[in-house]
Amino acid sequence: MKFSEVPAPASSGSVSSGETSGSELQGVGNIDEYDIIKEGKAEILTPKEDKVFYNPIQQFNRDLSIMAIKSYIELRNEKWMEKQQKREEAKAQKADNEPQSKKRKITGPPKINILEALSATGLRAIRYGHEIPHVNKIVANDLLPEAVKSIDRNINHAKLENVLESHLGDAIKYMASTEEKFNVIDLDPYGTATPFMDLAIQAIEDDGMLLVTCTDAGVLAGSGYPEKCFALYGGNNFGNSFVNGEANHEAGIRLILGMISATAAKYKKSIEPVLSLSIDFYFRLFIRVKTSPIEVKRLSSKTMVVYGCNGCGHKIEQPLGRISGPSKFQYPKLVAGVSSECGFCEGTYTVAGPMWKGPIHDPKFIDRILSINHESDKQVYGTTERIKGMLTVAKSELSDVSFYFNLNHMSSVFKSPPISINEMVKALGNLGYNVSLTHAKKNCIKTNAPWEVVLQINKEWLVLSNREYLCKTKANEGNMSEKTKVKVEQLEADIGSNPNLLKASPGYRILKKLAATPEDMKIDFVTESEVSSSVNKLRNVKMVRYQENPTKNWGPKSRPSSK
Ligand SMILES: C[S@@+](CC[C@H](N)C(=O)[O-])C[C@H]1O[C@@H](n2cnc3c(N)ncnc32)[C@H](O)[C@@H]1O
Ligand SMILES: [Zn+2]
Repeated sequence: MKFSEVPAPASSGSVSSGETSGSELQGVGNIDEYDIIKEGKAEILTPKEDKVFYNPIQQFNRDLSIMAIKSYIELRNEKWMEKQQKREEAKAQKADNEPQSKKRKITGPPKINILEALSATGLRAIRYGHEIPHVNKIVANDLLPEAVKSIDRNINHAKLENVLESHLGDAIKYMASTEEKFNVIDLDPYGTATPFMDLAIQAIEDDGMLLVTCTDAGVLAGSGYPEKCFALYGGNNFGNSFVNGEANHEAGIRLILGMISATAAKYKKSIEPVLSLSIDFYFRLFIRVKTSPIEVKRLSSKTMVVYGCNGCGHKIEQPLGRISGPSKFQYPKLVAGVSSECGFCEGTYTVAGPMWKGPIHDPKFIDRILSINHESDKQVYGTTERIKGMLTVAKSELSDVSFYFNLNHMSSVFKSPPISINEMVKALGNLGYNVSLTHAKKNCIKTNAPWEVVLQINKEWLVLSNREYLCKTKANEGNMSEKTKVKVEQLEADIGSNPNLLKASPGYRILKKLAATPEDMKIDFVTESEVSSSVNKLRNVKMVRYQENPTKNWGPKSRPSSK
């Protein structure tokens, strides 16, 4: 179904000075005082002295948000039309004899309302106004009078008065006081979105979509602010251990979702994350919110704490509730294998969470964004390649596996030569396990294989490299140093050991504990399988899956200096 869009100047992500020197623009004054920013189909004017926040790096966030809202509208309208069609068919059967004039015509689905609660220059809201069809009204709110002046100037410049209105005030107070509900609420604050969540959940229309940015990645995925992380998100990440640090990016996503799901539950609402991304220095999540007391009852079973071993990265998920039947709460039981000491490496566990345990993406929703992205004009949407790359990987992520591990970290644990993704995925696939990449980190994989199997594969990789070492060294036996001789003797006595590992290290302990690879466990690093070829296909497509640093001093922009 297509609805008409408001035409506007097409350009992508550029900033220039006022072009008509000294000229007056209606409702604007002297245009020389402004920079003209063109992004997507919007053109906005920002004061040269930068009193209002604008970050060009966030074009990816804005392009993606536009496509996600379009997907939401398309899917909502299709569902609406389907329902309407069924209702009409049922009616038609009943009232076959009614005169034609009495039969109701199917009208289109209702248009949507959008709130951009923290709007700054208004660029995002202006883009929504130009580029998203089927919108009734957009409210662009900001706390700062300069920002609202900028929003008004740009509404006027874009001639979007019929659809877009500004509001000056604290977003929390605005959402608390407005009688209106919004189908889409976009929260794009400095730092955390937590303070806005209670009111956003209440101000959202049933089956609406929440778009949430959190730029406090240092809190969510770093290890410097554990008390802040707990205060804002009600849980911990995995802290600073070498083997768990990378998993903190997915922990960050799950902590945000945990906070939102717990907030929603207070108002009998449940959440359905449709796309949850860890991007560069921030997180961006797209979440459907529905009133559903039954789903709320299931929340404890979709919430977990996770024990993460600081020595080898082993993880154990402990759900905080069980559900029997459609929605009967059962107290959680301790999951198997929980102990204060890791059974593989004798390391300690960090307790992460509570956090969201459910799926973080909806592949059908992602597919819809990808098809909108595919049809988008590359001149207007400057980040289509990255959207395609990142979302294709996100869509492929195993939905029932919460975390991933970094292959280089595993090689460091064993002090073995690095194992490539290709070889690791082949080994896992040939043993019958499933594997995927993750959008959150390079060189990491998710798998449904038990941790013991992952460790066994790493050990086998070490054995192969030990064999190679012995072969090469012994071919040159005459020139062996005393040190080399000792190493050769050690490896001949135990090919599955590594003389370079300290006795107290996790790698040494794992190698001691793991038996030799069982005869019937054929670890094959060479043969392709369905799993490895699908992962490889994804890796071989020329895609911008991870962002390169786009400018010199890039990252979250700080608040404008004049405040
Ligand atoms: C990161 S910027 C928003 C950027 C904008 N969404 C975009 O895409 O260009 C955050 C904005 O939130 C505003 N702000 C901060 N706290 C606020 C609050 N409590 N209520 C409303 N606006 C607030 C700031 O003035 C700032 O303009
Ligand atoms: Zn361990």
